[in-house]
Amino acid sequence: MSKKVVVVCGSPRIGGNSEILADAFIRGAKAAGHSVKKIRLAEKKVLPCLGCSYCSDNNLPCILEDDMNGLYPEILGADVVVMASPVYYFGFSAQLKAFIDRLYGPDVKGNIFSAENSYLPHKECALLMTAAEKNKEVFDLPVMHFQQIFSRWFMWANRGMVLVSGVSESGDIKGHEKLNDAYDIGRNL
Ligand SMILES: Cc1cc2nc3c(=O)[nH]c(=O)nc-3n(C[C@H](O)[C@H](O)[C@H](O)COP(=O)(O)O)c2cc1C
Repeated sequence: MSKKVVVVCGSPRIGGNSEILADAFIRGAKAAGHSVKKIRLAEKKVLPCLGCSYCSDNNLPCILEDDMNGLYPEILGADVVVMASPVYYFGFSAQLKAFIDRLYGPDVKGNIFSAENSYLPHKECALLMTAAEKNKEVFDLPVMHFQQIFSRWFMWANRGMVLVSGVSESGDIKGHEKLNDAYDIGRNL
């Protein structure tokens, strides 16, 4: 079955290591016949959540008027949502974190604040991350964060994580063996 796949690239560095990792995943997903949309948050204006409760009070996605309006239908219509991000200070990039927080609107839509009743339909997900440090513990916090948000809270099925340490300058990841792991996750969706 052909799936709709959305890959959210959270790095401000266009064509950087995490996007190269995302592109390997995309090649695999396309080889398997899935349709893929890549979203570079660096090219989008996605403001941080205001915590104003407009979404839960009004049964509407968000009071903020920015590019997230166009991204909501993409995310809600996807079968698979993949997050690609550099590690920034032991977490996601601010761009990706802002995007995730803005899912609060569809998550709590209808004033029902529990994972079981989330209005975000169940999906599949995956995590692709890069970091400069060689120490793999650099991924501990973002991996836990990803699992808590997407597996435990949204209850999306985790199809895999590829974590590449020791890549600093843009393009350092080229030729890395873990690009094959990202390809395989896409190929086996
Ligand atoms: C603001 C900032 C914070 C970073 N924090 C970390 C960090 O905590 N640990 C780490 O190993 N690398 C850190 N890095 C390095 C990036 O994670 C690394 O260069 C990554 O491969 C960049 O991916 P990109 O090319 O997709 O942006 C940081 C880089 C920046 C610019």
